[in-house]
Amino acid sequence: MKKVITYGSFDLFHEGHYNILKRAKELGDYLIVGVTTEHYDRSRGKLNLVDPIMTRIDNVRKTGFADEIIVEDHEGQKIEDIQKYGIDTFVLGTDWVGMFDYLKEYCNVVYLERTPDISSTLKRNDMMQLVKLGIVGTGRIARRFQAETVYVSGIETIAAYNPEKSSLESYAKEFTLKPFSEDYSGFLSTVDAVYIASPNETHAAYVREAINAGKHVLCEKPMTFTYDEAVELYKLAGEHRVVLMEGIRAAYLPGFQQLLTVAKKGTIGKICDVEACFTRIGVPDSREMSDARYGGAFMEYGSYTMLPIFKLLGLDYEDVIIDSILGESGIDRFTKVGFRYKDSMATSRTGAGVKSEGQMVISGTKGYILAQSPWWLIRSFDVRYEDASRVDHFEAPFVGRDGFRYEIAEFLGKINGTGGKDYKLTAEESIAMAKVVEKFMNIRRKQQGF
Ligand code: CTP
Repeated sequence: MKKVITYGSFDLFHEGHYNILKRAKELGDYLIVGVTTEHYDRSRGKLNLVDPIMTRIDNVRKTGFADEIIVEDHEGQKIEDIQKYGIDTFVLGTDWVGMFDYLKEYCNVVYLERTPDISSTLKRNDMMQLVKLGIVGTGRIARRFQAETVYVSGIETIAAYNPEKSSLESYAKEFTLKPFSEDYSGFLSTVDAVYIASPNETHAAYVREAINAGKHVLCEKPMTFTYDEAVELYKLAGEHRVVLMEGIRAAYLPGFQQLLTVAKKGTIGKICDVEACFTRIGVPDSREMSDARYGGAFMEYGSYTMLPIFKLLGLDYEDVIIDSILGESGIDRFTKVGFRYKDSMATSRTGAGVKSEGQMVISGTKGYILAQSPWWLIRSFDVRYEDASRVDHFEAPFVGRDGFRYEIAEFLGKINGTGGKDYKLTAEESIAMAKVVEKFMNIRRKQQGF
């Protein structure tokens, strides 16, 4: 019996998929079709698949050409499959010519002509209107964000807003955007959505005005400094039926999702403690190092360290204790926040102008998870046990340098209604963070003598 194998995402199943499966089947007696998982697709840069894997498998099955359907979930699986199933011929479309020649030492490799003028990408683009994005604030972070938007199809940055003209002009020129330095409402009227990366204290007002103008909003953290304002903004977004998302990048990375799953499914037993640390020496006169009111360690990094704590232990802590030491400029140089839950606890440690081991440790009754620095850009983590020789290592790579594209893809998915439920960072979690920020600011103000 001659066995043939082919792979694909088969998203929004189309004629091109049908044709290749038909011809692949004709090359042998038994056809195996590998359908990629969302996780694997994300790790190789396909961020906006529409159909869930069960739908994609079902569509392949319905053609009647596949004798067996398998799931492809990792790099290197093709060689394993070829050997495991005793494959004679490996088939892919001509968009991949040459890319799989390395498999020729295991079996025949055949590239079949692609069906012209159709692809999942084209269908996705037809389905979704192009989202025109405006950027508010044109500093370092906006630059890094901008560089990643080009990897997410369906979104295009067209305008930038910043009252500081010199920064705006160089940014707008570099990325060919329409500049707005005074007229925020005029800027809003040219876009469908905004990404807000202005100084911390300006976030909430920009968010509010954008929502009132009916625009979707992705806002850098911290979005607000108070619980009431966070509640108000999410309520307002609901009333205007627009997406409001706080940009805590770590929340959207595939590795972070995997870590949460491993922790929650009981691999390390019952979770007793979560410890997350994020520090940076930083540039002395940068905003975060010198702005005593709105900069400092906790403002900059606290959203990251609170994220795994709230994700794993929930929002119903019984008590929170906040303590900081201040630097010369009056910022909090190092802040420890301790959360006490009914039968677990957690610590957030953040430093600006201090260096520490930036790790996350989740301790459980059967073992612990260690995610090393930079865990907020997580690519791997370990599960360790009492028996120190036993270590389960998890690799969860992501594409790109900063992980922004996962956040952007999530934002776009929500705008297009393909993003599913808000489980990666819920409004409740974002509001709970604002509550801690509010308490932190009150304590720091007293410490600073304001
Ligand atoms: N394929 C084809 N003709 C097309 C589109 C896809 O023969 N017009 C083939 C691909 O070459 C591949 C298989 O179908 O062998 C599955 O491809 P997949 O990547 O799932 O489909 P695309 O439409 O190419 O998806 P995308 O646009 O997301 O890359």
